[in-house]
Amino acid sequence: MTAYKIALIPGDGIGPEVVHEAVRVLETISELDPKIQFAFTEYPWGCEDYLKNGEMMPENGMEILRDYDAILLGAVGYPGVPDHISLRDLLLRIRHDFDQYVNLRPVKLLKGAPCPLKDVKREDIDMIFIRENSEGEYAGSGAWLYPNSDQEVVIQNGVFSRKGCERIIRYAFDLARKEKRSLTSVSKGNALNYSMVFWDQIFNEVKKDYPDVPTYSLLVDAASMFMVKDPKRFGVVVTSNLFGDILTDLGAAIAGGMGLAASANINPEREYPSMFEPIHGSAPDIAGKGIANPLASIWAASQLLDFLGYKEWGKRIIDGIETMLEQKRGLTPDLGGNASTSECGKTLTEYLK
Ligand code: NAD
Ligand code: IPM
Ligand code: MN
Repeated sequence: MTAYKIALIPGDGIGPEVVHEAVRVLETISELDPKIQFAFTEYPWGCEDYLKNGEMMPENGMEILRDYDAILLGAVGYPGVPDHISLRDLLLRIRHDFDQYVNLRPVKLLKGAPCPLKDVKREDIDMIFIRENSEGEYAGSGAWLYPNSDQEVVIQNGVFSRKGCERIIRYAFDLARKEKRSLTSVSKGNALNYSMVFWDQIFNEVKKDYPDVPTYSLLVDAASMFMVKDPKRFGVVVTSNLFGDILTDLGAAIAGGMGLAASANINPEREYPSMFEPIHGSAPDIAGKGIANPLASIWAASQLLDFLGYKEWGKRIIDGIETMLEQKRGLTPDLGGNASTSECGKTLTEYLK
């Protein structure tokens, strides 16, 4: 039997603390189901390394990662290294260069999870965000002209290709069809007169191939309002890179907090490894204290199992998280408990067993 080769990039701050709990959970699953084996290799890439060597990953870093079945990442970014360097040279580089153009982010309020919204039924918060993950506002195209002069100008271009828009919108339609859910496109054509008009046009074109999928189109400002006031409107949601980034932090806030929000960066063609990570950052304010919530990372491990074809195990992890929330056992301080990061991870493994 061959083991799945998994590259671990724990990264900065709480990244290593939470990733190691995700690994604990995957190792427990290997014990319980010996046909699922993993070979983990850890790469200590991140801001500490950058301060020593001047690079966020070695020159051949992408070649090293190329051979893995998947990547588990913690978080990147730490005070002392400018965020636009640390993130662009590591996390965003992997997403882009491995053509992980789908960023799948569930926003589901599990039973027992805290929710700040009033008059909203728990089951009404159940959406799947499909965020475009390879171009758009994150394309990194622009210029900084005449610095430090009174002529100083910066230009940040959004790059929306037909191929890029069409493939992400199709992916979202296929998912909505499979899940028998509606699909909402979120854009901003009233102000972004090139990029978002183009996005809306492509959404309307692709829609013709999916007459069975109910569709809605919302402007991003209204979408953020409806996520709070009427979240049951949303099933599958497809949107651009930046809008998806912002809306999924809002999604995290209504679905239990940053400690419960997971993210899969998928290359659907499986030409390159896909990458699984919590959506939160390195949380410098709590790093090193042993109180970070590992459940988002563990949820990302569940997405990894789904991706490898072990949906039963993926679901068992989510069921385990839900039971912990309902029974208020093994929870970290952000969820009102007093467990440490590792106690939380261990509690989940007990539920799996
Ligand atoms: P953050 O997500 O790190 O933290 C925001 C708040 O949420 C903090 O109060 C933090 O303590 C809390 N929080 C986050 N994750 C938590 C967890 N697992 N358990 C308990 N509390 C948690 O966002 P930020 O402060 O805006 O960013 C910090 C750094 O992380 C920056 O350098 C930023 O660029 C980077 N960042 C990286 C990623 C990533 O690698 N995917 C994502 C977001 C931010
Ligand atoms: C996320 C993060 C990243 C993003 C940052 C760290 C570049 O916020 O994964 O949500 O904006 O995509
Ligand atoms: Mn984000």
